[in-house]
Amino acid sequence: MQHQFNKLYSKRVIIAIAAVLILSSNSFAQQKKTFIIKANQPAATIQPTMWGVFFEDINLGADGGIYAELIKNRSFEFFKPLMGWRVDQKPFVEGAVTVQNRQGANLPNPRFLRVQLNNAAKGNLSMTNEGFRGMGIKKDLRYDFSVMYRTAGNIKLHVELLNAKNQVIGNSVVDATATGDAWKKLAKSFQSTDTAQKGQCRIWFEGTGTIDLDMISLFPEDTWKKRPGGMRADMIQMLADMKPGFIRFPGGCIVEGFDLSNRYQWKKTIGPIEERQLIMNRWNIEFPHRSAPDYFQTFGLGFFEYFQLCDDIGAEALPILNCGMACQFNSAELVPLDQLDPYIQDALDLIEFANGDVTTTWGKKRAEMGHAAPFNLKFLGVGNENWGPQYIERLKIFQKAIKEKYPNIKIVASSGTGPDGDRFELLNTELRKMNTDLIDEHYYRSPEWFFSSVRRYDNYPRTGSKVFAGEYASHVDKTNGAQRNTWLAAISEAAFMTGLERNADVVSMASYAPLFSHIDGWQWAPDMIWVDNLRSYGSPTYYVQKLFSLNKGSKVVPLTLNNDVVAGQDSLYASSVIDAATNELVIKIVNASNKEQATVLSVEGVKKLVAQGKLTVLQGSSLTVVNSFDQPTQVSPKESTIAIKTKKIDYTAAPYSFSVLRIKLQ
Ligand code: AHR
Repeated sequence: MQHQFNKLYSKRVIIAIAAVLILSSNSFAQQKKTFIIKANQPAATIQPTMWGVFFEDINLGADGGIYAELIKNRSFEFFKPLMGWRVDQKPFVEGAVTVQNRQGANLPNPRFLRVQLNNAAKGNLSMTNEGFRGMGIKKDLRYDFSVMYRTAGNIKLHVELLNAKNQVIGNSVVDATATGDAWKKLAKSFQSTDTAQKGQCRIWFEGTGTIDLDMISLFPEDTWKKRPGGMRADMIQMLADMKPGFIRFPGGCIVEGFDLSNRYQWKKTIGPIEERQLIMNRWNIEFPHRSAPDYFQTFGLGFFEYFQLCDDIGAEALPILNCGMACQFNSAELVPLDQLDPYIQDALDLIEFANGDVTTTWGKKRAEMGHAAPFNLKFLGVGNENWGPQYIERLKIFQKAIKEKYPNIKIVASSGTGPDGDRFELLNTELRKMNTDLIDEHYYRSPEWFFSSVRRYDNYPRTGSKVFAGEYASHVDKTNGAQRNTWLAAISEAAFMTGLERNADVVSMASYAPLFSHIDGWQWAPDMIWVDNLRSYGSPTYYVQKLFSLNKGSKVVPLTLNNDVVAGQDSLYASSVIDAATNELVIKIVNASNKEQATVLSVEGVKKLVAQGKLTVLQGSSLTVVNSFDQPTQVSPKESTIAIKTKKIDYTAAPYSFSVLRIKLQ
């Protein structure tokens, strides 16, 4: 009897469960959202420059970052000439080490160090450089040491790499033979025997006499393309992997400078490195809570290296130059209109440096640096985050002069510091009247702003000036440093970027900012890529940027839900493009909700789809998850295939996910 009851009971339970399942699957089916994709209605053209990167020497981005020099203050030109160096003497001899100055007018590198030795041997006199928050040293790698010196004696320099325990992990002896009054460059390479995350470099002296020293330098062998004195390969590789359409350079606020003397001057960043005049990096003093008194710009990564980098990775160069105004948050110094000529000449000369043939003054200098072929510069920015009538006045003069001489160069103009308000409205109106090629909009805003601004460009003018979303990042509250690079920040950027893509006829270029950040030396967060002295990892934002860039396509095609664009309905965002090069339809879907969302992707206007598509999903386990040195790929793309049976594709977007589907058209 009991057995019968159990049987009956379990039968009823099964029927009930089945009924619930059928009902719920019906309601699930009803909830499916059908996205209509009109694959045969190509609309806006996506510019090859659509997704690029913004590079600024902030957060130790260049010196201490991508520029692979390991010696800090190599030429003793910091405000404190021995900053970064520790001199040890036993016994102490007053005046044995002095900072000297060549005293000439306008010398780019006036200081040097004079060391007087009296029968020096190990332990008597040494100088140790601490590097940029330590030196990253790799086991069994070649290190290239060099120094400029002059001496009347014969002195040996013992060069040692040290680990954090002060143990020697690589060394060499450099013979500084007598030079008389002339300066000579000595170079010596040697292997390291161990790895150190926070190493140092010590030089101790042997011999008697006086030796003058300058440009003391140490580079690892494994720079990008193994170029001597080059850039950190791991960092460049991360950029190259993104295939960016352009590189904006050198900023950012460092274009403007704290005052005009502190502005970026490209002509001082080319030629022999010992002739490149160092300046204080304005991020040195910008934020008292993140001050960096040892942050200077040596310009070892200067304009030649920048153009070369663009060339290397197939990105267009987009230099931004000073417009005759210093940072308006700081000194706001203005160059009077009748004294603007040298600034305009700098702009014209930069174009000649990039594009002029080798018979021109500046083209010749480019050729002398090793690149006879032109770099084919197409864009030039005038001013960064400058605003007000003073900016418009100056820009007009620049625009006229540049267009007269180089009508094909596209000019990028600033729309101030934010995407709305009186400051923005004035500039946006005036720049459109001037028919400026590209208007540079900046938005450092909350994730909510990014989600809710996805329709920002839907009603922008379709003709006239184009938009360059030149600096943007989603800023979450209550976190700091690398912790700000949450999945919430990244997914809100992805949602917003579907709106940029949808409006590719309005938006021609976009770049997240800032790009790099050193974990021990940042001033500004969030940032796209985090590094320490040896390692680098991409934040979730990096992967969002990379996925958009690698799946850029060539034409936007309409994607709608109930005759509307997909811009936040139930926290869904989507866009689609055709990639003419591969004949693929590329669909991007952001599900910013905490639940799965079932969709039907109904592809219209094509005969057939190839049976297998490629799916890439970027997903965070929660909105607060971040990547880190310990878990560098916690949020990173996962690739798989997707079976395609008909032109109505069932696709369920996972919670908090960004999906990219590539489907071959037949
Ligand atoms: O990206 C950091 C800074 O933000 C840039 O230097 C400046 O243009 C903006 O204010």
